[in-house]
Amino acid sequence: MDLSSVEKAYQRLAGVYDTVFGAIFHPGRKAVLDHLDLNPGEKVLEMGVGTGLSLPLYPRDVEVYGIDISEPMLEKAREKKVSEHLDNVKLLEVMDAEETTFEDDSFDVVVAAYVVTVVPNPKRCVDEMRRVCKPDGELVIVNHFQSENPVMGRLERALAPLSSALGWRPNMRQRELVEETDLDVVEQRRVNLFGYWTMLKCRNNKDASASK
Ligand SMILES: C[S@@+](CC[C@H](N)C(=O)[O-])C[C@H]1O[C@@H](n2cnc3c(N)ncnc32)[C@H](O)[C@@H]1O
Repeated sequence: MDLSSVEKAYQRLAGVYDTVFGAIFHPGRKAVLDHLDLNPGEKVLEMGVGTGLSLPLYPRDVEVYGIDISEPMLEKAREKKVSEHLDNVKLLEVMDAEETTFEDDSFDVVVAAYVVTVVPNPKRCVDEMRRVCKPDGELVIVNHFQSENPVMGRLERALAPLSSALGWRPNMRQRELVEETDLDVVEQRRVNLFGYWTMLKCRNNKDASASK
């Protein structure tokens, strides 16, 4: 997976994304909001905000910032901001989730919904989520991880060489991601069809992880 193949994949998908992935991924997006304790005035960053399907789910008294590598996906998000009068959405900009321009400790919550298996370097993306989030803020990741079912797991490993064409990595293992990135998972939920995706709510343990 490299950034230009990701961009190409989402350039192709932007026009049909909401139809294909709107309803099917909706329970996962809703689970994120249901498990966040957001207070008025808090700031949330959505890494890989895509077409902005999650934006209307946020309380209007919370500021939401969205970044994505795909301009065609962001154009759809900007249309939603206007048509749904989402004045609390403060930014929708092209930026790489592995290397943003935000200062340290800028956000109370950082969300990556269906993104960590898409970016070229998942660890760098999680490190960046941690950097821009306040100490003890919340990091929320929703993703499909490689199935523990042996048949499905084999199928997903077989699909791995097609990652660039698919636009996502089917064989990422949850345990490896959590260990490699030192995520402090405080809550875990199976979401979407057959619970095939997972929501991980994590405490931003940046001080603990920096001292290791
Ligand atoms: C599967 S979509 C998820 C979109 C949205 N979060 C949702 O819930 O539907 C993955 C998104 O991640 C974006 N993306 C992939 N790599 C990225 C990167 N390095 N930086 C920022 N966005 C990226 C893609 O352009 C795409 O919009």
